[in-house]
Amino acid sequence: TTIPQFQQKMPVPPVLKPTSVSGTTSYYDVTMKEANAQILPGKLTRVRAYNGVFPGPVIKAESGQRVVVRQTNALGVPVSVHLHGAHVPESSDGSPMDVLAPGGGTKTYTYPNDQPHANLWFHDHAHHEESENVFRGLTGFYLLTDSVEKNLNLPSGSYDVPIAIRDARFHDAGQFAYTMGDIAGRTVILANGKPWPYFEVAARKYRFRLYNTANVRFFTLKLSDGSPFTQIGTDGGLLEKPYTTTSLALSPGERADIVIDFSKYPVGTTLVVENTEPGPPGTPMDLVGKVMQFRVTRTATDTSTVPATLRTLPALPAATVQRNIELLMDETGGEHAQAYINGKIYEMDRIDTEIQYGATEIWTVHNANARAPHNFHMHLVQFRVLERNGQPVVSGNDSGLKDTVSVKAGETVKIQATFTGYRGTYVYHCHMFDHAAMGMMANFRVV
Ligand code: C2O
Ligand code: CU
Repeated sequence: TTIPQFQQKMPVPPVLKPTSVSGTTSYYDVTMKEANAQILPGKLTRVRAYNGVFPGPVIKAESGQRVVVRQTNALGVPVSVHLHGAHVPESSDGSPMDVLAPGGGTKTYTYPNDQPHANLWFHDHAHHEESENVFRGLTGFYLLTDSVEKNLNLPSGSYDVPIAIRDARFHDAGQFAYTMGDIAGRTVILANGKPWPYFEVAARKYRFRLYNTANVRFFTLKLSDGSPFTQIGTDGGLLEKPYTTTSLALSPGERADIVIDFSKYPVGTTLVVENTEPGPPGTPMDLVGKVMQFRVTRTATDTSTVPATLRTLPALPAATVQRNIELLMDETGGEHAQAYINGKIYEMDRIDTEIQYGATEIWTVHNANARAPHNFHMHLVQFRVLERNGQPVVSGNDSGLKDTVSVKAGETVKIQATFTGYRGTYVYHCHMFDHAAMGMMANFRVV
């Protein structure tokens, strides 16, 4: 059955309300449960979702103000809630082994928000379950703001829209069809939980916080008329300076903050957000090559601005430790593929890297596969990408503060991070969830 494109409106995800607020701490109660979501026209899809909301709701947080989330697992599988990109104590990191038991397990996560503004997100991370749990809907937005961001006059309110982009596969009856390692079969593209939706905009500037929440699919986004747009931020918040581009690559887990100015378009214009990332051979680009549509339906005043300087990032400290990381997946693969970091499959009790508290380190991350792309994500820190394939990173989507970076077949990236704030054990892994589940994950311990 074919699913019509640009027929359903893209929803704006709902903002969660705290259960209570005390001083500068906001308390939330969230239940992970099954629910029916209307994704395909005329059909209901069983999802696993935070409060049953698909895709997940938005938590709005502010630097320096604590957020405490009591999570209850009403699902029939183990879960662990990881706040991706956050600087948090080990006990609230939502590590792969720190699971909530099925059928009622609870855990209270405390997020100190002791970091600058950033577009974070939370998602399941229970080892071997995360790939399917995320595929079935366990993702949510966590927008952390601060005074630096708020003092800018960027598009705001209804002109500031988070968009989660992913792929999916469905059975004819409308249920999700999940198998591990299924790259070729996930040919339905969802934006905020609807297949190829449309979104009505006014002829003015909009800010979009784009999240790639797909398990394994990379996207390279462009507007169908080839128009430039402005990237203002990456994973860890705003760039120092806006960056004008006509295309944007996002690997799974990465975020980009962009501004599109629709003011040059007459009312009645439609624009498609296209995906030019080819995917594996045989990928149907008539499906996967489109994401969503913008419809310019009205005019509106616009007093927002994108200033020439967005923020100042601290100077990079000198690194004292260098490490090499090699990502490798057995490409004969399929459902039972194994995946390695430095020749090893993830084991929860093995510390792969010991880091001195406060150290600044440079990690050279190489993808040793001939065809398979990977990416690289570290918990606890926001890092900087120094080089890609020997070329210094000066602007664009590899610049700014990052927690996830693409490393395509044969590529090498050099990243730098400083490990402060908390001691403890955290993971680093390929953020293609299926690869992490297959073992492409390791532990570091800050001592
Ligand atoms: Cu979003 Cu350990 O990952
Ligand atoms: Cu990978």
